[in-house]
Amino acid sequence: MLASIPRYLKMSPGNFLAFIFFVVFVGSYDRTVVAYDGSGTAASSVVKGTYYPSWTGYSPESIDTSLFTHIYYAFVNPNNVTYELVVADDDAVSLSDFTSTLRRKNKAVKALLSIGGAKEGPALFAVIASNASSRGVFIKSSIQVARKYGFDGLDLDWEYPRTHQEMDSLALLLTEWRFELEKEAQTTNQPRLLLTAATYFSADFFLDAVFRSYPVAAIATNLDWVNAMCYDYRGPWDVSAVGFQASFFDPNSNLSSTRGLKSWLKAGLPKEKLIMGMPLYGHSWKLKDPNLTKIGSPAVAKGPGDGFMPYSDVQGFIRNNSARVIYDPETVSTYTYANATWVSYDSVASAMVKVGLAQAMGLRGYFFWALSYEGNWEISAQASRLWIRDN
Ligand SMILES: *[C@@H]1O[C@H](CO)[C@@H](O)[C@H](O)[C@H]1NC(C)=O
Ligand SMILES: *[C@@H]1O[C@H](CO)[C@@H](O)[C@H](O)[C@H]1NC(C)=O
Ligand SMILES: *[C@@H]1O[C@H](CO)[C@@H](O)[C@H](O)[C@H]1NC(C)=O
Ligand SMILES: *[C@@H]1O[C@H](CO)[C@@H](O)[C@H](O)[C@H]1NC(C)=O
Ligand SMILES: *[C@@H]1O[C@H](CO)[C@@H](O)[C@H](O)[C@H]1NC(C)=O
Ligand SMILES: *[C@@H]1O[C@H](CO)[C@@H](O)[C@H](O)[C@H]1NC(C)=O
Repeated sequence: MLASIPRYLKMSPGNFLAFIFFVVFVGSYDRTVVAYDGSGTAASSVVKGTYYPSWTGYSPESIDTSLFTHIYYAFVNPNNVTYELVVADDDAVSLSDFTSTLRRKNKAVKALLSIGGAKEGPALFAVIASNASSRGVFIKSSIQVARKYGFDGLDLDWEYPRTHQEMDSLALLLTEWRFELEKEAQTTNQPRLLLTAATYFSADFFLDAVFRSYPVAAIATNLDWVNAMCYDYRGPWDVSAVGFQASFFDPNSNLSSTRGLKSWLKAGLPKEKLIMGMPLYGHSWKLKDPNLTKIGSPAVAKGPGDGFMPYSDVQGFIRNNSARVIYDPETVSTYTYANATWVSYDSVASAMVKVGLAQAMGLRGYFFWALSYEGNWEISAQASRLWIRDN
């Protein structure tokens, strides 16, 4: 497999560190004043996050907890009639197992409970957030569930608020949520629960028919940080052409992580509240002509895995087919192809350059979607090692 990687990619560790040194220290050397936020951690200590997709059956025991600072359990959702966060019997066992296993393996790692997800969709949160009474019910129940199962924080993954009005509702929800979290911490004399959100890669939905922006002021005030989902820019939902799913730069479009991350900073989110998301999966297409493999080449269908391949499957595909692996330095992207299959994903090389760039931008850290897709820990481990910035 390594044999198929272009020679220039086989950077020696020394060269690679020199590159990162350049990115981090020449790119930016301003230091954030470390403020104390009362939650038991310095306000801008690094976040090395990852999401645990509970439905995959992956055992929490198998998680290498030394590689992360925050691990998110995905997902638990509110009841669509009472608006309370509800835990089904099966989930109760799984939640307890998750937090107790993390605690036993690594006392320093924080466990967060993530609410929402792409499958849940936007409608229920729009209803809950629109009304003070349902917001109150939802918030109260979320705190009860988090405490009952031993979590250190809560995460909202509302994908996505659809209108200006829903963005206003989100601002109210976050303001009231944070208020209740502070109050609960004081009343019970415990460290405050963290509050974070997984968001669109950009602070505004500039590609949609309804242009709308996140309530960045309320987000900056009330959230500990934002997990910007810097992926899914292109996938086989557009079957006509292959493309990069998580390009950091893109000279030809605004679909890039740099465009998204900068939009958050421009809108006023402090950089120590911004976390860059990275995918541990690829999107696959079936090429129209196996000889036309460049970015943008015509495609005719989804590729293996119905267009979605966990990182471990991408590695299997490369091995099985002696597939070519191409790193594109201009966009910081990787793709691989063999026969008529073409896959856009993050290799170790593209993921590590992104980690260096996130440090150069002064961001608080990175997170992965999702933990169990990796198979080995090569990306998570190298990312953790390469984050040398002591924010
Ligand atoms: C609530 O969820 C149930 C089960 O998923 C579904 O059958 C029902 O239609 C939903 N009700 C509302 C009001 O959305
Ligand atoms: C707000 O939600 C409550 C139930 O949680 C409901 O009784 C009330 O009618 C709702 N108000 C509005 C304006 O929708
Ligand atoms: C990117 O967005 C800006 C407006 O925000 C627009 O003027 C420009 O044409 C876009 N660039 C591309 C390549 O789509
Ligand atoms: C691809 O190119 C090779 C030689 O370069 C040629 O033999 C083959 O027929 C081409 N395949 C297609 C599908 O055009
Ligand atoms: C690679 O080959 C092995 C052995 O035949 C098979 O089990 C696996 O599913 C293949 N992986 C992919 C991604 O095709
Ligand atoms: C795909 O092409 C490779 C050569 O690149 C070959 O070894 C492999 O057997 C081919 N796989 C299939 C399923 O045709």
